[in-house]
Amino acid sequence: MTAYAARRARLAASMEPGAVAVLATSPEVARNSDSDYPYRHDSHFYYLTGFMEPESVLVLIAAQGDTPARSILFCREKNVEREIWDGFRYGPAAARDAFGVDEAYPIGELDAQMARLLADVPALYYAHAHSAAFDAQVAGWLKAVRAQARSGVTAPARTKHLLALLDEMRLIKDESEQALMLRAATIAAGAHVRAMRAARPGMFEYELEAELLYEFRRKGAQFPAYTPIVASGASACILHYSANNAQTRDGDLVLIDAGCEFDSYASDITRTFPVNGRFSEPQKLLYELVLRAQEAALQAIVPGRPYSDVHEAALRVLAEGMLDLRLLDRATWGNVDNVLAERAYTPFYMHGTGHWLGLDVHDTGSYRDLNAAGKPSRPLLAGMALTVEPGIYVRPGPNVPERFWNIGIRIEDDVIVDASGARVLSGGAPKTVQEIETLMAER
Ligand code: GLY
Ligand code: MN
Ligand code: MN
Repeated sequence: MTAYAARRARLAASMEPGAVAVLATSPEVARNSDSDYPYRHDSHFYYLTGFMEPESVLVLIAAQGDTPARSILFCREKNVEREIWDGFRYGPAAARDAFGVDEAYPIGELDAQMARLLADVPALYYAHAHSAAFDAQVAGWLKAVRAQARSGVTAPARTKHLLALLDEMRLIKDESEQALMLRAATIAAGAHVRAMRAARPGMFEYELEAELLYEFRRKGAQFPAYTPIVASGASACILHYSANNAQTRDGDLVLIDAGCEFDSYASDITRTFPVNGRFSEPQKLLYELVLRAQEAALQAIVPGRPYSDVHEAALRVLAEGMLDLRLLDRATWGNVDNVLAERAYTPFYMHGTGHWLGLDVHDTGSYRDLNAAGKPSRPLLAGMALTVEPGIYVRPGPNVPERFWNIGIRIEDDVIVDASGARVLSGGAPKTVQEIETLMAER
């Protein structure tokens, strides 16, 4: 059984007996006439099928009594003319064999078949309010089933949110997923090394971006996992900077947040380095503070400990450092506990310390235990994948030491939780001051 078939079986087993789940992949999106955005399948759909063509729908029917679960794929038909223009498409017969579904039909038959497949079914699982077009299509099927009421046919009494089940499944990465995530992180780490090696004062940010993209593609990654951030100087304090069009200056730090997607799995890495290869003293002080915060956060990754401990461990180190370096006035704020209680760190650290990572860069899955009273932070479990990305961003301000003005630093790694703690996937990108300066001195 393939990993995809095993996931379908697990999903079917968690559904009501005899219920039907239906899941469409993403539509193609036009960029302008005759030109589409690069196509990217829907992550949930891919997770259950491995099928990457647009205009595809998966229907899963849960087992009931002696009737086993069944999966049906609707996809594009073979079409010689379209294949001359756009390339190969499987067509239902070949797709059924290659992707291990029980049945496959042309996508054009979907509406007619759904009216039949939903007859006398207790519940329908689908992605509620995900796409207006799909919601309307589902409503059409339900109407078509209800129209058969006079012949005794009943429509599903309940609709249920399919994505809630899939989000939970996707949170724990199986071995094949972990191997792809390591590959994505290794390629991206190599791209960060390449950018560090290429960096020279006076280069434009987009020239460094080009080094990243070249390395991603050269190593077989299909896409960047998100728009790369290459932010020099003060732009590093803009969290989602993506213009990447400024010229670097001697003495600048460059913050690069860039990861690739390899076989549908994302990496997400940030490194911050001096464009001239040597950290200044103030840059080094802040850099080593962020690095200590990241180390503390990584140490907090232990199965059974709550996810929120990761952020809290980083925050505590950052808050201590802000007092020590006089970014925060000790006479005003007192001790670290008070800084944390009052959230006095937020002018310099205003984001979380990470997120789930997987098929999506901000992957699915709740951060809380939704079944426990008060919905506390959920415990970490082996197989979860997350980023660990503390930072510090210092804008000019009246009581802010001038030597730190306009320095922005983030250090981000990709991690899988295993039985003993954090397994870092992105260690190939140098991280300590010495590692970075040594690599850049050898340029
Ligand atoms: N690159 C997006 C993030 O770090 O969350
Ligand atoms: Mn991230
Ligand atoms: Mn990132």
